[in-house]
Amino acid sequence: MALQTFFLLAAAMLANAETTGEKVSRQAPSGAQAWAAAHSQAATTLARMSQQDKINMVTGIGWDRGPCVGNTAAISSINYPQICLQDGPLGIRFGTGTTAFTPGVQAASTWDVDLIRQRGAYLGAEAKGCGIHILLGPVAGALGKIPHGGRNWEGFGADPYLAGIAMKETIEGIQSAGVQANAKHYIANEQELNRETMSSNVDDRTQHELYLWPFADAVHANVASVMCSYNKLNGTWACENDKALNQILKKELGFQGYVLSDWNAQHSTALSANSGLDMTMPGTDFNGRNVYWGPQLNNAVNAGQVQRSRLDDMCKRILAGWYLLGQNQGYPAINIRANVQGNHKENVRAVARDGIVLLKNDGILPLSKPRKIAVVGSHSVNNPQGINACVDKGCNVGTLGMGWGSGSVNYPYLVSPYDALRTRAQADGTQISLHNTDSTNGVSNVVSDADAVVVVITADSGEGYITVEGHAGDRSHLDPWHNGNQLVQAAAAANKNVIVVVHSVGQITLETILNTNGVRAIVWAGLPGQENGNALVDVLYGLVSPSGKLPYTIGKRESDYGTAVVRGDDNFREGLFVDYRHFDNARIEPRYEFGFGLSYTNFTFSDIKITSNVKPGPATGQTIPGGPADLWEDVATVTATITNSGAVEGAEVAQLYIGLPSSAPASPPKQLRGFSKLKLAPGASGTATFNLRRRDLSYWDTRLQNWVVPSGNFVVSVGASSRDIRLTGTITA
Ligand code: BGC
Repeated sequence: MALQTFFLLAAAMLANAETTGEKVSRQAPSGAQAWAAAHSQAATTLARMSQQDKINMVTGIGWDRGPCVGNTAAISSINYPQICLQDGPLGIRFGTGTTAFTPGVQAASTWDVDLIRQRGAYLGAEAKGCGIHILLGPVAGALGKIPHGGRNWEGFGADPYLAGIAMKETIEGIQSAGVQANAKHYIANEQELNRETMSSNVDDRTQHELYLWPFADAVHANVASVMCSYNKLNGTWACENDKALNQILKKELGFQGYVLSDWNAQHSTALSANSGLDMTMPGTDFNGRNVYWGPQLNNAVNAGQVQRSRLDDMCKRILAGWYLLGQNQGYPAINIRANVQGNHKENVRAVARDGIVLLKNDGILPLSKPRKIAVVGSHSVNNPQGINACVDKGCNVGTLGMGWGSGSVNYPYLVSPYDALRTRAQADGTQISLHNTDSTNGVSNVVSDADAVVVVITADSGEGYITVEGHAGDRSHLDPWHNGNQLVQAAAAANKNVIVVVHSVGQITLETILNTNGVRAIVWAGLPGQENGNALVDVLYGLVSPSGKLPYTIGKRESDYGTAVVRGDDNFREGLFVDYRHFDNARIEPRYEFGFGLSYTNFTFSDIKITSNVKPGPATGQTIPGGPADLWEDVATVTATITNSGAVEGAEVAQLYIGLPSSAPASPPKQLRGFSKLKLAPGASGTATFNLRRRDLSYWDTRLQNWVVPSGNFVVSVGASSRDIRLTGTITA
């Protein structure tokens, strides 16, 4: 069977089982067989390549020299095309006929694996339609240990398990379209400040249990490529780090694909080659100089500083990725300007809508044909200069649908909150008034006699090469931008029916708003991409019940998080205790905990059942992509009945947390190890099923250098958030 057929068949079987509602294991087809076939094709091809061909395959042609952000030259002797690498994680950067999907963090906020997978498949379809061979996403680092971190929104929230599942679904989605995915940024790249000079000094256990975890999911999902990051890891550049690349990624995780550098993250010729880097991007620095590979690599190989077998290995890995995805069997010509949107906006609207988290509601929502609504804030309308006026979205003007930097894309259109509310108001015969600035002057006139006042506030962040209003990538504070607190206060002073809508890259401090009399609801609308207003109206008017849950914790004050952007090196002193792991461990009451989200209905949890055959001890399986095979096998199953006990349809995300037995070294009190989203009619019940793999019950043993299931009793907690636990049980190993 042709390799591509094998791969697509496996993906199709999985997808089919999912849509038919059959219980499927979350394990990817091991892929070992597919990789073996791809590597054998690669070896045959390699034999026909000259040394110069090989050098060309591993070296980008230079910054700004081709149609894509990264390019390698065609190799005619083997019919290998010019390869296009293009950003990014939420769509096709610089595209003009492409979709502005929801950012990763919004996808995570849905906790809906079907939507996340469909998003990936559509991203892949658009990339393929544009002739892009390697799509530079998804993002598992930054994980988001620092709420201020500029690029947290590109990834999937601050929990490695949730991020890992989202990585797997997204990668399988992208690659099902025949496009090579790229898991980035490997590893421990948690802030923008000094990202190109600092060292992230991370202890072995923390690295495995937090930062490596979602990359292991990526490898297990057969991701074709991994991008090494700008920072140093434990004193050595990530792109010339033998331990991170050769020992951990390639050996321990059994990664069969190739490592490409972040843009200009390479610092040496032979050392990076010998430490496991396989492709350098973009091939020069941003001034077209400073070439580490190309002729320099050729010299290093001729001088014996880099073995010929290492150069061969780089090429075999790159070719294997190309064969694995069947890209040798004909591929569209590179055209970033192709129109490839199809019906993908439906996924954008669904993810934007189902990722909305209702934080507070005293009954004002859902709206029902109000007589008059008022809309307040500059962020309720589109940027008057144009929806794509700012390069790489490097401004926070008008409605916010994504952060800034290389992970941003052009909007084909952008539906603002006001646009969508006006359309709805017209249909209902509702009067609508607008205060389209953030000045508190004149607010009271606009809002005074409205039945509902929608105040839209934001917080933005992005990649460090752009500074916006003093935020150099990372946010310099966690307050809403542009006078947001005062704007809410001004509206609430004049009208006691205020609904605060937050469009934000991540956590903001909500205390001032919560202390404002007249704030009746807070709708955490996240980052909704191009369908911004439509998704909001769906929730505000109860077309659906809100069903998103926070993929991070919102604290009461900045100091509660226990992490901050650091100057100089970061020693990751907080270890395993980030986000809710920290709040739980330090017994700090969060404002809204990880996993929290309200609905227009209620859910009850009952009837927990646990079966397990887990044996204590280290993993013993053969290495497959992702690590020892037995780590990925189900060893316990937990089920619970979830009932919609309210009056309207809704969806609940049931979450499972594990507490390790006392025989394990000090660990977070609770760690997410399963979730299941169930859509239920009023009165209906469904079964949430959590399949726990061996890895879900293991910790990283630094002495054994292996994953170990500790003996004793595991506490199993099932609930509606990390602090709203409804059912508990025990697994004994
Ligand atoms: C970013 C990457 C991106 C690359 C190419 C870098 O600055 O860190 O995420 O893929 O640029 O644009």
